[in-house]
Amino acid sequence: MSKVNKQTIKELQEMKSRGEKITMLTAYDVSTARLLDDMGLDVILVGDSLAMVALGYDSTVPITMDEMLHHAKAVSRGTNSALIVGDMPFGSYQVDSNAAVQNAIRFLKEADCDAVKLEGGVDIYHTVCAIVKAGVPVMGHIGLTPQTAGQLGGFKVQGRDMDSARKIIADAKALDAAGVFSIVLECIPGKLAETITNTVNVPTIGIGAGVNCDGQVVVTNDLLGVFDKFTPSFIKQYVNLAPLIKEAVKSFKDDVKNKSFPGDEHTFASKENFKILAAENPKKTLR
Ligand code: KIV
Repeated sequence: MSKVNKQTIKELQEMKSRGEKITMLTAYDVSTARLLDDMGLDVILVGDSLAMVALGYDSTVPITMDEMLHHAKAVSRGTNSALIVGDMPFGSYQVDSNAAVQNAIRFLKEADCDAVKLEGGVDIYHTVCAIVKAGVPVMGHIGLTPQTAGQLGGFKVQGRDMDSARKIIADAKALDAAGVFSIVLECIPGKLAETITNTVNVPTIGIGAGVNCDGQVVVTNDLLGVFDKFTPSFIKQYVNLAPLIKEAVKSFKDDVKNKSFPGDEHTFASKENFKILAAENPKKTLR
């Protein structure tokens, strides 16, 4: 598909400069990608949250490169204008920089993504440098990093005390120096996110990090109310689709059971009088 009015990394940087907020949502399939793209989202993230909200894993850890690419390809097919970021899954960039570069390139070559996202700061500085040097734009992700949430004491707010706040600032600066084009700040106090946003050169995209980031991201399934396992407290649910979907499914089930679906308007007419076929093929008596 030829892409028109494609969002660019340069434009995201300019949005930071002029104080215009950046919008980013997740998508894992072509229909969602089309809806988000039609509504003019700046960035679509094929997040590894896919593991939990669409594939039913208990965490983001088990998802593989092939699973991520499979969904990233679908999202690319449905996206015209938004910048597409593929989330590098756990294990695809931690072992060594060469493997990380190869896996990052796969997101661009095989899934037509524009960039990749990695979790971590100071610890992955050299890996990020290598991926950027290979020509793949990188989005960083610090604060609460779900792939290593166990080491952080679980899915908890990060950077509440001075020591951990200083560590997160150091992570942000390391990513900025490594050449990322933007940084996701997840689940950190608003004041800390504001300080980082004012300190780094690149746009920050917050999730549970307050209003003073350069942009905001949430998991689309949370925003729409279709993921019922848990909803983080920082999520604003714009619509609760789950009861509507259940109601529609119940109506379908009832209609089928009581034979009101499909009606004549949903049934193809034949050119001939097919009564003759019925006569040639008498009804079986089932035992
Ligand atoms: O995987 C994901 O959806 C993410 C966002 C929550 C930032 O990393």
